[in-house]
Amino acid sequence: MAESMKGLRRSHRCAEVSKAQEGRMVTVMGWVQKSRNKGGIIFTDLRDRSGILQVIFEECDCGAEVFEKAASLRSEFVIAVEGTVTARQGAVNANLKTGDIEVRAKGLRILSESETPPFPVEAGSRTREEVRLKYRYLDLRRPDIQHNLMVRSQVAALTRDFLVQEGFLEIETPTLIKSTPEGARDYLVPSRVHPGSFYALPQSPQLFKQLLMCSGYDRYFQLARCYRDEDLRADRQPEFTQVDMELSFVDVDDVLDVNERLLKKLFKEICNYDLQLPLLRLTWQEAMDRFGSDKPDMRFGMELKDVSDVVKDCGFAVFQNALEAGGSVRGINAAGQAGMPRKKIDALVEYAKGFGARGLAYLAILEDGSYKASFAKFMKPEELDKLAAAMEGKPGDLLFFAADKNTVVWDVLGNLRLELARQLDLLKKDEYRFLWVTEFPLLEYSEEEGRFMAKHHPFTMPMEEDWNLIDSDPGAVRAKAYDIVLNGTEMGGGSVRIHQADIQEKMLEVLGFTPESAHEQFGFLLEAFRYGVPPHAGLAYGFDRMVMLMVGADNIRDVIAFPKVKDASCLMCEAPAQVDVSQLDELGIGVKKETAQTDLRQE
Ligand code: AMO
Ligand code: AMP
Repeated sequence: MAESMKGLRRSHRCAEVSKAQEGRMVTVMGWVQKSRNKGGIIFTDLRDRSGILQVIFEECDCGAEVFEKAASLRSEFVIAVEGTVTARQGAVNANLKTGDIEVRAKGLRILSESETPPFPVEAGSRTREEVRLKYRYLDLRRPDIQHNLMVRSQVAALTRDFLVQEGFLEIETPTLIKSTPEGARDYLVPSRVHPGSFYALPQSPQLFKQLLMCSGYDRYFQLARCYRDEDLRADRQPEFTQVDMELSFVDVDDVLDVNERLLKKLFKEICNYDLQLPLLRLTWQEAMDRFGSDKPDMRFGMELKDVSDVVKDCGFAVFQNALEAGGSVRGINAAGQAGMPRKKIDALVEYAKGFGARGLAYLAILEDGSYKASFAKFMKPEELDKLAAAMEGKPGDLLFFAADKNTVVWDVLGNLRLELARQLDLLKKDEYRFLWVTEFPLLEYSEEEGRFMAKHHPFTMPMEEDWNLIDSDPGAVRAKAYDIVLNGTEMGGGSVRIHQADIQEKMLEVLGFTPESAHEQFGFLLEAFRYGVPPHAGLAYGFDRMVMLMVGADNIRDVIAFPKVKDASCLMCEAPAQVDVSQLDELGIGVKKETAQTDLRQE
């Protein structure tokens, strides 16, 4: 039967016990990792979130009754042990923080028994993730996940500490709000009091933090829960956390400066990594031209080169057609890869097609200087020479080329570059290569919608020098927007905001809002701007992504206590779930029959 805590008090966490307590009594509590009965002696590994401690039960120390109780211990029982710390009698375990000691038990209480768990609680579990997530409370006992969540807590504490020191105020904003335009779909919450009306869960605190600036709280931050109904990926969850901030009376450099110092502190304290400031900055245009991505991974080179000029008069129709259609021909040089087997090259061509390529041309420069190219028959030898030279190709190198409109070429080569780096093992997890990507385009044309959309959000300030292009060439207007990128992941982003009514009105007009629809959606913000608004700017980090990168995880699920899976469901509590008809009635909601019959958790 489970015993109580009456009269007991924990003196140490398991791994806090050390040689310093040798000869003293301690009281430790935790879960039985494993217990081995070797006849007259029982070895029990006791685990809590600090680590593992070896406990020894011997009848001569603890008496027959305790010994008998200890013989019943099984994995995941919760116990309390009182005993004496002694130097380890057997071999010292160098892998364990407590490997040179053990606790010789005098007393034992079984606080709770455990059924056999569905999988062993251990680091680096090979259990299928679906099973682990169904029993997440057991999965969370594993030391590697516990480490991640402890780091997460530490990063939050350090961030708060730093920002408070810098004069930021922590202010909470509501989560039952009106839709915020961040570009994803909203999660909606029906109102009982106003049947047929819905709250939206915030995609970010964007509008509220801007209002706080209007109200004079000139430096704000918050660890804000955000909700976005979008396709899940390794670095995306439907609900996630932002470290969100906003500052008044600032321009781009002020925001970047305070954030560089925050990052320096965090990466020093958590990863013992010395960040060299200022961080590298690339404009969006340069990032796209050199890396084919607005979140380039800077841990390796293999930069893109524009060879449009070199091939503009060659006889290869694929290249010609792309150029005539206003596109470009660009390449990357996989140095030393000329010997890549045909099968592997074919697989890369298929990979490229996944990003919209119609094909991928390649040219291997063999050791004797001759070429093997997929387009050899379409080009003269001297044209191939020129092309190889433009790519700085040397014998042994393998060159890949994509010809299409710029956006496709960037996407194809940007992703091919990453895939090659993965295959060649160029991506080291303990190397942290940061950069700011700045001067993003203000607008992005959506083929789907047939109009321009805000690339960041509608409150982002255009660059002063480009504003005169807003009518003639809206796509060319750059914004005072910036992203912080680490190892190819967009860790955060922000912008200087528009604080002038006329620019904001024009911006909304370009985005296709009528004065009425703008007023309907965020009239309260536009109105607030009529009563004295300071110039302001801000940024938000994906907190989960930041912690993921710090602990070297591949998926933000590993740094979130109770994450959701690909179809946005929770395997443990089985949300979302159907609700009682009476609950729906109360909300004035009817569910269409075909929707109601589909199990939302099925893919
Ligand atoms: P943005 O939309 O770029 O900007 O979001 C900021 C950061 O939040 C993280 N993020 C996510 N993390 C996990 N799961 C998701 N689904 C997800 N979506 C975004 C990313 C991203 O860089 N209000 C603006 C910020 C501002 O302008 O100040 C905003 O939300 O790391
Ligand atoms: P084809 O004449 O279609 O066999 O193409 C010759 C080579 O050009 C093949 O290696 C194709 O993969 C490649 N190719 C076709 N379209 C493109 C493109 N848009 N960009 C780059 N290479 C291409």
